[in-house]
Amino acid sequence: MGVAIRGTGSALPEKILTNFDLEKMVDTSDEWIRQRTGMSERHIGQKETVPSLASAACRRALEKAGKKAEEVELIIVATCTTEMLLPCAACRVQNILGAKDAIAFDINAACGGFLFALNTAHHYIESGACNNALVVGSEVLSEIIDWTDRGTCVLFGDGSGAVYVEKTEEGDGSGIIGMSQGSNGMAGKMLYCRGRVVKGETEPEINSEDLLVHMNGGEVFKFAVRQVPICIRKALDMAGLQPEDIDMYLLHQANSRIIESIAKTLKQDIKKFPMNMEKTGNTSSASIPILLDELNREGKIQKGQKLMLSGFGAGMTFGACALIW
Ligand code: COA
Repeated sequence: MGVAIRGTGSALPEKILTNFDLEKMVDTSDEWIRQRTGMSERHIGQKETVPSLASAACRRALEKAGKKAEEVELIIVATCTTEMLLPCAACRVQNILGAKDAIAFDINAACGGFLFALNTAHHYIESGACNNALVVGSEVLSEIIDWTDRGTCVLFGDGSGAVYVEKTEEGDGSGIIGMSQGSNGMAGKMLYCRGRVVKGETEPEINSEDLLVHMNGGEVFKFAVRQVPICIRKALDMAGLQPEDIDMYLLHQANSRIIESIAKTLKQDIKKFPMNMEKTGNTSSASIPILLDELNREGKIQKGQKLMLSGFGAGMTFGACALIW
């Protein structure tokens, strides 16, 4: 028995913020952002929320899989930006979808969250606790970004990506074949946010600047290029594969230079590393499933191909998943 992805979906807010818009907000330039990050524009939530984007992405994933919400047994939303503490985003998604028989809960592993959620769903299904799951990454990062800090505000965007996974039958040939994940809480200060101001609420009396993302970009960069290849190799070992056996690497869309460096470390052609951060920015836990959905809808993934998904994020957290499509 295995676990395979049967449907993908994604949702992006309508409003687009370009590098040229950012030039008017902070001391930056389109050229700097494109050269240093690979990004040109990103989507920014206005009315959209973590659950509204997540449920739109889930509906598309269910449609693609030919499933109904009532059939869903587990919903895991990976998010670090849900605007309500209680109830969790996954329960709100359950309510929006009408997935009345699902177990629903959130996971916060920041940008690494989708891999953590996928791994958890994999274990639930493998153990027999349930037969299927919606695994979602959904973020409205724009609400916790310091729009006066050029070192962070140019990087992030909002959005959601979802996959519908289910138990496979003997001899199916598709599914997850290797997973690896880890955390390094000792490096937590590289990227943190103490709390948040909720849209429409009055500012709290404590220093509101402190309720925004703080990041040491250089340290995060070094962490990612060192840790992600190690994590990928562990998932490859579990799957009994070598880097060259993988047809496509779908990595967290944090920075094109990080991805280029990882490709070099793994001695793999950069053509195997599709990227979409140019249009989406870094959407945190949503970036990998958004990219997966885009490729799937464009017919760029063939049955039987081997994929590697891998991400990293605040915590610090990191994860990888090898699968056969
Ligand atoms: N526009 C113009 N200049 C900028 C800028 C911006 N948006 N942001 C920073 N700079 C400046 C810096 O102030 C610095 O100027 P100085 O030399 O006068 O001090 C210069 O550019 C170089 O800064 P540096 O931080 O060394 O640039 P970098 O090449 O490391 O790129 C990041 C910065 C943030 C793009 C890069 O470090 C990065 O992507 N890190 C990883 C971040 C990440 O992935 N976070 C999410 C994790 S899930």
